[in-house]
Amino acid sequence: MRRGEATQEEGEQRVGEGKLNSDEITLHRATDPAWLTLALSRFDEVLIDHAHCEKKAAANALSLLQAFPEVPGLPAQMARLAREEAAHLARVLQIMEDRGLILGRDGGDPYAQGLQKLMRNGQKDRQLDRFLVAGIIEARSAERLALLAEGLTDVALKKFYAELATSEDGHQKLFLRLAREIAPGDVVNTRLAELLTGEAALIAALPLRAAIH
Ligand SMILES: [Fe+2]
Ligand SMILES: [Fe+2]
Repeated sequence: MRRGEATQEEGEQRVGEGKLNSDEITLHRATDPAWLTLALSRFDEVLIDHAHCEKKAAANALSLLQAFPEVPGLPAQMARLAREEAAHLARVLQIMEDRGLILGRDGGDPYAQGLQKLMRNGQKDRQLDRFLVAGIIEARSAERLALLAEGLTDVALKKFYAELATSEDGHQKLFLRLAREIAPGDVVNTRLAELLTGEAALIAALPLRAAIH
């Protein structure tokens, strides 16, 4: 049956199913608008942190390839993801170079560390949590890069951040698809909801930083 032919009842049911087995991660808590004000006022610091985020995203893709080579499609997807994230990193580093900024050491990311603590041990649980946490970080990054794209006034930077936001949004969907490859739908949905609740609490608790997270 084509979409237009569904009765109202069937249509509502379909919407309900869509929510249950969504193909994208929907964050439970929006970023505080004060974060954007802070990020724009100390944008150079945000750029440096952003470079470290892209570096970690590329490294995590290769780490997942190393850990789970048996998941169908994962090696090629993670190889492509690592290449994309490394390309993002190279572009951020170029912008930094143009502004005379040095990368320096990674000061650590309390947000990623907080999410790390939510992950379970045990082979199967750990695998699912790694995919879902990676997806949640991509979803939060996509949200914040889109906020930067809106808030920045420089046309080239606006375009750059809008493009990256779209790319990270694609990555969150990729990680959710991988999670659905390795676990039943209800298991994925339950765990995703738990992790999103934890992420929202973390976002609410952490002080705002001149950083992506
Ligand atoms: Fe990226
Ligand atoms: Fe990404």
